[in-house]
Amino acid sequence: MLGLYIHIPFCRQKCFYCDFFSIKYDENQIIKYISALLNQAKQFSGAKIDTIYIGGGTPSVLFCGQIEKLIGSLHKIFDLSNLKEWTFELNPESADDEKLKFLKRSGVNRLSIGLQSCNDDDLRFLGRVHNFKRFVEVFESIGNVGFKNTNIDLIYGLPARSIKDWQKILGRALQFDCSHLSLYPLSIEKETLFYQKGISVDENMQNDLYQNACKILSQNNFIHYEISNWAKDGKESLHNSNYWRNYEYIGLGASAAGYFKNKRYKNVENIERYISSLCHCGQESSIEQEEYIDDELRKIESIMLGLRLLNEGTAIENFDNGREKILNNLLEQKMLYRDNDRIKLSKDFVFLSNSIISQFMK
Ligand SMILES: C[S@@+](CC[C@H](N)C(=O)[O-])C[C@H]1O[C@@H](n2cnc3c(N)ncnc32)[C@H](O)[C@@H]1O
Ligand code: SF4
Repeated sequence: MLGLYIHIPFCRQKCFYCDFFSIKYDENQIIKYISALLNQAKQFSGAKIDTIYIGGGTPSVLFCGQIEKLIGSLHKIFDLSNLKEWTFELNPESADDEKLKFLKRSGVNRLSIGLQSCNDDDLRFLGRVHNFKRFVEVFESIGNVGFKNTNIDLIYGLPARSIKDWQKILGRALQFDCSHLSLYPLSIEKETLFYQKGISVDENMQNDLYQNACKILSQNNFIHYEISNWAKDGKESLHNSNYWRNYEYIGLGASAAGYFKNKRYKNVENIERYISSLCHCGQESSIEQEEYIDDELRKIESIMLGLRLLNEGTAIENFDNGREKILNNLLEQKMLYRDNDRIKLSKDFVFLSNSIISQFMK
């Protein structure tokens, strides 16, 4: 299994909570950026790809012509004969019928839509460009165009919101026939407007909202397959599951990470430097960090990633070299459990997942 992640670091405007690498949309730069990204892609020419994820940023800010150049070239550079899943991230304000039809024709078979909330006051508070009505229109077009595999992203635990507010939002989101939901607690990150403004969140409240969501989603036939992700049966994201299975993937674009031939790498987190490193006269490397993953590190990473997959867990053989003691302790406390040759996180302790998983990092 080999994945391909493509980062499009352009957005209409910066949301107040977001610290992902993205800048304001700039058409001139986008053209140069796509050429640079395709030059990096050629370094992996012929690779047989199983899943593709085009994320951001906001990939849907690209015009059809730009998407066509990108997708058309990917078909030529890579071997896509075995492709199983192709996801494209959409923001409601920049999705339209023409783009949706074009994506469908190009082989994209999964869409991930950043809704964040069904409440317009929340959307304004978060600094989103769209309102709920716009999302409803886009979701209808998505259905008309024939996409059956759709994810919706929601953010919960905004300040001064009650459990009732959240239930209303989740209930409204469930009225749409989506096959996958990603729910994230609002986190206040450095370098964001929320951080500068001193906005804070109530983590106990966020935990209550999470537990509530777990209950509601299981009543609605969603399988809780990863800490923050729920899917209808068979609609789990294959691309993201393969990250958690610690499989390899190629990462293209500024700031994108990759894991290929036993090396993890990260591309430069700067658009001008990324472009100049990949033009014909480029002197610098497009990669700013690289690390060889030996067997020991691979096992630690497999534990950290695999425990996130609630129904799959990770192989027991990863718990050697001194990790047996930590494992036995966590098994005794019932925070982890053994299922044949797999070790899994107990559902009652998902809210402590960070502290459980971090014990294996020492
Ligand atoms: C990098 S964003 C890209 C998706 C797309 N550009 C969008 O905004 O809809 C992926 C998702 O991470 C979540 N996210 C980003 N920053 C977050 C934060 N500080 N707290 C909680 N969720 C966050 C949002 O739900 C977002 O849809
Ligand atoms: S949340 Fe999405 S749209 Fe908003 S700034 Fe971040 S990447 Fe861009």
